[in-house]
Amino acid sequence: MEKKTIKIDYFLAKNTGELNMSERALLQAAMRATKNSHAPYSKFHVGAALLLDDGSVIEGSNQENASFPIGLCAERTALSAKASIAPQKKVKMIAIRTKSNLSQTTEPAAPCGICRQALLEVEETQKHNIKVILQGEFGSVLVFNSVKELLPFYFGSKDF
Ligand code: THU
Repeated sequence: MEKKTIKIDYFLAKNTGELNMSERALLQAAMRATKNSHAPYSKFHVGAALLLDDGSVIEGSNQENASFPIGLCAERTALSAKASIAPQKKVKMIAIRTKSNLSQTTEPAAPCGICRQALLEVEETQKHNIKVILQGEFGSVLVFNSVKELLPFYFGSKDF
């Protein structure tokens, strides 16, 4: 058996000063989106902002429910809004931010596996990479130039 290794490329910025203007603006939009989060159970507010190829921004936030499993993540809320409002547009970038009522989030949180798979489907369908930028309420920022960096072994239309 041959040992194989996967290399993941990503960038770490100590703060937003190392980012360009559109990245900074999208991170601000993602934090704004946390305000519309419905998270009375986890108290963990997630905001996602999509930058589309016409320059417009679509925001989404996590929407929890007393029936816990039906809660929706911020990323898929934003993607569903985009698919409904602007189906022909491409997603160039997504910013994801978190804010907790319980403690300050100073580290970026990576999107859950289901959201990675959902983002991957959009990246594959539109045939254009999506840049992913992650930040907590404050602090360092992680940047991935493609969703594939976050989900190297993905299930896609190539598999059937
Ligand atoms: N959450 C997101 O919105 N996105 C993710 O990628 C991970 C988790 C939400 C779901 C739930 O409302 C809260 O964060 C705590 O898990």
